[in-house]
Amino acid sequence: MEAELKFERENISGIGVVGSYLIDASRRLGVEIFDDCGRLGLCDSCAVTVKSGAEFLSEPTKAEIEQLSEERRANGERLTCQAKIVGEGEIVVLTHEKKEEKPHHERVNEEFRKEFDALPLEQKVSRLMELEAVTLSETFSFILNSPYTLGGKLVEFLSGFGLKFEKDDKDAKRPDEHKEEPTAEEPENEPEKPAAAPDLDEAVEAEEKES
Ligand code: FES
Repeated sequence: MEAELKFERENISGIGVVGSYLIDASRRLGVEIFDDCGRLGLCDSCAVTVKSGAEFLSEPTKAEIEQLSEERRANGERLTCQAKIVGEGEIVVLTHEKKEEKPHHERVNEEFRKEFDALPLEQKVSRLMELEAVTLSETFSFILNSPYTLGGKLVEFLSGFGLKFEKDDKDAKRPDEHKEEPTAEEPENEPEKPAAAPDLDEAVEAEEKES
């Protein structure tokens, strides 16, 4: 089941799978949308104006009600990390003008550095520990995308564990309103999932036997 998405500013049209978030569907079509808070519903960097077809999107979440004033919501603004495609039809979207020319990653780095500098020492330490977890997740992604860099069983194990880690992370960021609902598969990007993550000891043992 699919909806047709039209982005007026970019003059781009394409298909959005029912069950996917507007931010994912937009990016898949090459439309850049920021996500400064990491899709947690804590900012408005991912906001767009839905000019028509709002009925094919999920109801505004609590986060949208908190982040967007009544006036902005009345004008059709939605947070794309919160708005899920729920029906087949045409959705016309107007992205907001980018406020600055700096590349997104530079802007995020600057903001992060400022925020980090202002933290007391204790919070700096816990922030660094969170970053360690992110690095771990990125390492798994690298392994997932590099199937030939390590031997068979071990890669299988790490891939299984990495996929679970990424899925848990994505699930944790879903709006409370959508936690119980299934989300659309991401056919273009999602690697094939192993049936279940094997036990690490078994994987290492098998790896040793093979070598
Ligand atoms: S990315 Fe911050 S609310 Fe969507």
